[in-house]
Amino acid sequence: MTTQYGDSTRSLHAGIPDPVPGAPMLPGPVFAAPYHLDPEGYTPGVDGYGRGDNPTRRLLESAIGELEGGDCLAFASGQAAITALLLSVLRSGDTLMIPSDGYYNVRSFAASTLAQLGVTTVEAPTAGPYPSFEGVRLVLLETPANPGLDLVDIAEVARAAHAAGALVAVDNTTATPLSQRPLELGADVVVASGTKALAGHSDMLLGYAATNSADLLDAMRQFRTLGGAVPSPFDCWLARRSMGTLALRLRQQSASGAAVAHLLREHPLADNVRWAGDSDLAKRQMRIIPGLVSFELPSAEHVAAFLRASALVAAATSFGGLHSSADRRHQWGDSVPPGFVRFSCGVEDTEDLLADLTQALDTAAKL
Ligand SMILES: Cc1ncc(COP(=O)(O)O)c(C=O)c1O
Repeated sequence: MTTQYGDSTRSLHAGIPDPVPGAPMLPGPVFAAPYHLDPEGYTPGVDGYGRGDNPTRRLLESAIGELEGGDCLAFASGQAAITALLLSVLRSGDTLMIPSDGYYNVRSFAASTLAQLGVTTVEAPTAGPYPSFEGVRLVLLETPANPGLDLVDIAEVARAAHAAGALVAVDNTTATPLSQRPLELGADVVVASGTKALAGHSDMLLGYAATNSADLLDAMRQFRTLGGAVPSPFDCWLARRSMGTLALRLRQQSASGAAVAHLLREHPLADNVRWAGDSDLAKRQMRIIPGLVSFELPSAEHVAAFLRASALVAAATSFGGLHSSADRRHQWGDSVPPGFVRFSCGVEDTEDLLADLTQALDTAAKL
């Protein structure tokens, strides 16, 4: 499929096979652990075992790969994709640079498993300043970063990191490939959690990596086959089906995100409102601003009162789904104040969400 098509067309048609009379629009999932072999023995290129081979997974990978602009490998979760990249690339003595304000499990993995393997980790805030890239093997960026929603100029960091001989990876979870294509901006590899907006229905874990480097692809594929963290055929099928509405969902979430950021800024109880659409870089680097807004209430008790009073906002630790949700990140160990909320706009009507938020904040303000 050519990139001349619009977002909705691409999210619906990417990777879908040509029409065949009598076939469904989206081929159903192929459930197989072993496949029938030729009695003479295994034929290379023919599906043999589900860990390495599955046509439903390949269909999902070709769809995501088209949207990202690279070859894609699907994983059982976003964290499985990230750890596959890190363990495929990094060796004892290497240095890794990661965001100090990004997804916390990456910092935990670096501090535990990677440190034990002899990998040194340097942390840098997403918005910078970045230390020297000299001696760094891999720079992992996350933009917009979860949960603070800071951004980094991918092309600028990629230029400087490449000049120093480092590889550059971008976690594209919050933006999704319809908003931002890091490979075109100079990144060597994209990793992401498809659990969030990409699959978007809060009903599965999914991850992926995408790259145009044959070496990185081979290394991560081998790691995945040996490590075994593959998504199930059913989840791959469900994810591809869900991606058909990705552009529609993002548009609604994005419109609500802008309105919610405005509402929160006007409300006396909310402070420190953060929304990616505020920055000039967002307008240059992203095509759709994600429907995520972070803000602070005075205390954890105020957040609980706000959540109890809301009829539409689920207390849940994820984002990008159909349902609006809010997560108090301090409870998971993010270094943010106790009343810090990461708010994810769902696909509810914007006016309904605004009315619900207003009454829930007004109720919480009475504490
Ligand atoms: C930015 C980011 N990357 C990666 C992950 C990990 O994804 P998963 O939960 O699918 O393992 C998350 C999960 O919240 C995330 O927010």
